[in-house]
Amino acid sequence: MRLKDKVVFLTGAANGMGESHARRVISEGGFLFMTDIAEQAGRKLAEELGDRALFFAQDIANEAQWQNAAKVAKEHFGGVDILINNAGILTKGDIQSESVETLRKVLDVNVAGCWLGIRTISPLMIERGKGSIINVSSQVGYRGWTNYSIYGCSKWAIRGLTKHMAMELAPHNIRVNSILPGAVDETGLFSGRSDPEFMEQIKQSIPLKRFVTRDQVSSLMVYLASDESDATTGTDNLIDCGVSI
Ligand SMILES: NC(=O)c1ccc[n+]([C@@H]2O[C@H](COP(=O)([O-])OP(=O)(O)OC[C@H]3O[C@@H](n4cnc5c(N)ncnc54)[C@H](O)[C@@H]3O)[C@@H](O)[C@H]2O)c1
Repeated sequence: MRLKDKVVFLTGAANGMGESHARRVISEGGFLFMTDIAEQAGRKLAEELGDRALFFAQDIANEAQWQNAAKVAKEHFGGVDILINNAGILTKGDIQSESVETLRKVLDVNVAGCWLGIRTISPLMIERGKGSIINVSSQVGYRGWTNYSIYGCSKWAIRGLTKHMAMELAPHNIRVNSILPGAVDETGLFSGRSDPEFMEQIKQSIPLKRFVTRDQVSSLMVYLASDESDATTGTDNLIDCGVSI
């Protein structure tokens, strides 16, 4: 019950790590306002999670949809205590094969989506005198990689945004931290699961020789969301089986 009666606003809740976070919020006693563009999967999961969960279809790149979502969250749950900016998209390729349209699209979803989330939801936290915001970056936002010029810079931007917002919102008692997962193979974003040779090659490049599980990322999320981390703000939280070493 580490999130007992806390209202959690979670984006990208229908699949992958978001689905795992959604289940954990409920099992830790929280209320869940869950959003995604994947409507069917989102509604199905909310139904399974019961009365403490409410699904709302939302594209995080759309400002008006953020405003509608915040209004419904406030009407239904009375406010928001925790925001998890989890939704994101990936593109992979060298700079010559990528396009500026893809760059703009990824920045619009991954960076503007996160920025709009903080802008729209933090006033609800200010009303409550307290809050915790968790932004999902990546190991790709920690160091340089090949073929990640677009996704990588979006995830570096999220780390930077986290630190700037942690300063700006500290006077309101709102903490802002980022999570930097390594490769989590149980997600839609992780391609290559059907290729055992590729999977083995990746595994061998990881110091602990294993992938991160969704459940492990949810445990870190609960720590940062709950009052246990009350002294922690502006931090980058790596969970990557040692890749960043
Ligand atoms: N899987 C990994 O190895 C890994 C590693 C590091 C970071 N991440 C990050 O973790 C987060 C979760 O991704 P995942 O791996 O669970 O992937 P996923 O594809 O399984 O889930 C992402 C969810 O976000 C939703 N989404 C996509 N665009 C959206 C939009 N515009 N508006 C609202 N919802 C949208 C999708 O419908 C999906 O349900 C992402 O930010 C991703 O960049 C993933």
